[in-house]
Amino acid sequence: MTEEKKNKNNSSDDQDMMKLVDNLNRKDDVNLNRRAFLKASFGTTVAIGLATTPFGVMSAVQNDKDDSERVEIADANELAVGEAKNFSYPTEGDTAVLVRTPDDKYVAYNNKCTHLQCPVFYEHKDNVLLCPCHKGYFDVNNGHPIAGPPQRELPKILVEVKDGKVFAVGREYRHG
Ligand code: FES
Repeated sequence: MTEEKKNKNNSSDDQDMMKLVDNLNRKDDVNLNRRAFLKASFGTTVAIGLATTPFGVMSAVQNDKDDSERVEIADANELAVGEAKNFSYPTEGDTAVLVRTPDDKYVAYNNKCTHLQCPVFYEHKDNVLLCPCHKGYFDVNNGHPIAGPPQRELPKILVEVKDGKVFAVGREYRHG
């Protein structure tokens, strides 16, 4: 073999070897990337599962709590249209007002004014909830403040009418 041929063969061998090493590295890279991706995916799945578990548990507990919070507050015929009744919910200290509105719906709110906690009353004449302390007015249909100092709505009590009875079945938490 001539010296020139030897050099050509060597050069060709070197190139083949470089390609082989290059392919090996690329294959390793792909394997490593796949492994890293699978690890990251698994880690993310576990993290999301762990992070959301408390919400599932809380939701289950909350549902049980809602059932235990079901309290009879009036006979359906006890109030005429446009009348109101005071009660407590969910504890004795949480005073509240149930109103049978002029359009014959039952609505209820905790009745501590969101200004300075005076009791709020239903004012049939104007169909509003009124706080006499500083003349705060709330919309009877949703508990939102409509006039006077209060800036936040009254806490709403969810009401259900069933078998001739009115029940408080939970509270709707709002930013009020
Ligand atoms: S306490 Fe109700 S308006 Fe002030």
